[in-house]
Amino acid sequence: MSWNKWVRRSHRWIAITFTVTVVVALVAVGQQDPAPWLYYLPLAPLVLLLATGLSLFVQPYASSWRRRRAAGEARPGARARGHQGITPASSK
Ligand code: HEM
Repeated sequence: MSWNKWVRRSHRWIAITFTVTVVVALVAVGQQDPAPWLYYLPLAPLVLLLATGLSLFVQPYASSWRRRRAAGEARPGARARGHQGITPASSK
């Protein structure tokens, strides 16, 4: 499985875990004298959601950057002219 698919699947299942912890915390609020750590329970999956979510957000930009870089390096002389899209004709 590719890295992106793995992160997407993890994000999906952590989202379910997060939802369950929110429900548990909401039920705990209704109880008499609930354990204080129950309120912080959703924070653990939320941190994981933030990390995997940001990774999913950045992934398309990172892969298009890698593709453009690979295409630029495949063209002979592209590195020598830089990556500004300047051709010998237009640079005169
Ligand atoms: C904490 C910050 C979060 C960030 C930065 C984030 C970011 C993202 C991104 C970038 C995607 C991919 C969207 C796309 O397809 O282009 C995504 C998908 C998704 N997110 Fe989040 N997310 C966050 C929190 C959450 C939370 C709190 C939930 C639900 C409890 C959630 C549930 C989902 C689900 C179900 C998907 C679809 C995954 C799939 O492809 O099956 N996310 N998120």
